[in-house]
Amino acid sequence: MDQNRLSITDQRTGAQYEVPIVDGTIRAMDLRKIKTSPDDFGLMTYDPAFLNTSSCRSSITYIDGDVGILRYRGYPIEELAEKCSFLEVSWLLLNGELPTPEELGEWTGLIKRHTMLHETTKKFLEGYRYDAHPMGMLISTIAALSTVYPEAKHVFDADNRKLQIARLIAKMPTICAYCYRHHFGLPYVYPDNDLNFTENFMNMMWKMFEPKYLANPILSRALDILFILHADHEQNCSTNTMRCVGSAQGDPYVGCSAAAAALYGPLHGGANEEVLKMLDLIGSKDRVPAFIQQVKDGGGKLMGFGHRVYKNYDPRARIIKWAADQVFTVTGYNKKIEIALELERIALEDEYFIKRKLYPNVDFYSGIIYEAMGFRPDLFTVLFAIPRVVGWLAQWQEMLLDPEQKIARPRQIYTGHDERHVVPMAERHVSASGDA
Ligand code: ACO
Repeated sequence: MDQNRLSITDQRTGAQYEVPIVDGTIRAMDLRKIKTSPDDFGLMTYDPAFLNTSSCRSSITYIDGDVGILRYRGYPIEELAEKCSFLEVSWLLLNGELPTPEELGEWTGLIKRHTMLHETTKKFLEGYRYDAHPMGMLISTIAALSTVYPEAKHVFDADNRKLQIARLIAKMPTICAYCYRHHFGLPYVYPDNDLNFTENFMNMMWKMFEPKYLANPILSRALDILFILHADHEQNCSTNTMRCVGSAQGDPYVGCSAAAAALYGPLHGGANEEVLKMLDLIGSKDRVPAFIQQVKDGGGKLMGFGHRVYKNYDPRARIIKWAADQVFTVTGYNKKIEIALELERIALEDEYFIKRKLYPNVDFYSGIIYEAMGFRPDLFTVLFAIPRVVGWLAQWQEMLLDPEQKIARPRQIYTGHDERHVVPMAERHVSASGDA
């Protein structure tokens, strides 16, 4: 007897159904045949916020949230962070295997060739107010690139896809640095192809009068590691947005712009900026217990804590803590780490957080490192988006090539009125709820 099936008895009708179980999953469409009558639509599932719904098959990133495992294409995140560069990992995520030396050379060359922004895009950025939030600038500038590269619409042309993917990855640091310099009225620094990915980014951010900006190698490597840690994280809110927008077969610029918009929210990538605001608000280590009590009493969330998938420990947070120590050897100690460590210590001993399995996530420590390196808090989410664009694009490409995927279009349970008819204006009265 095939045991990989679910037997269902519909108590409404007494009818029995057999539903296959594949990979620990039943197909929601198999439930549609469960009907009370021939004209019944059929049974649906209700899963707000996708708590228990797989929306795709993916071979890119594996997470076991109960034990704190994260792997890209099978490789543990710890090994990739220790032994690889961000561009190597980008190739891995996009192509499935680590690159050979020739492939990495070609890939690095391709990225370097596309770091420049079209001068009209630079002018577009100049139109923002000096105090525009960099995430708002980033989201709209990525969308604007869709007008610069209209051929990107040919999403089923593999060579074209490769070109647009390289353009997006290459231009993200340039856009970020331009956003930063715009705020201060500093002249833009054009990309320097003698430098590697993170050195070039740091050069575009901070070069002033010196003929050649020399990034500290410990800092540029720490940034590279942070980029590796943020490159992909399977079906999170922004990646799901990328797949959803991409399922309508729009170009990757509008998809990445929408994904970046999802990332901006404080419950997702915007949390790193919120963590810094929270640490500033707490102000000192001795005020941590009072703040924890306030959170437990319902007065806000402990930002940088909790995760939909990780219910043990976010393995990225552990690596970030290690990277923070490296960065502090160069920049000096960021005193906010004391407050963060105290928050973590108390929260991990507290019944409220233990019961809800709330642990520090990737955003809890990343902002402290970024700030120590000299990045302003409003750039933190942009720093998240620079590497995450790789994950969005890898997932987008996988979705496009998956014959099972169609335009994303969930169902709903309608809770509104039955059919009713328009009352003439003169006969309308204020409703019981007070709404007209
Ligand atoms: N501080 C205090 N309580 C929390 C926190 C937190 N950070 N996170 C969750 N809880 C509580 C909830 O209030 C809820 O309590 P209840 O059962 O008494 O109602 C319980 O823990 C379960 O939380 P949910 O909101 O159901 O968990 P969900 O999986 O929907 O949310 C999320 C996950 C959004 C990350 C949430 O933990 C959160 O808001 N964290 C703070 C923001 C943050 O750090 N986001 C970054 C996540 S990582 C990333 O996106 C890159």
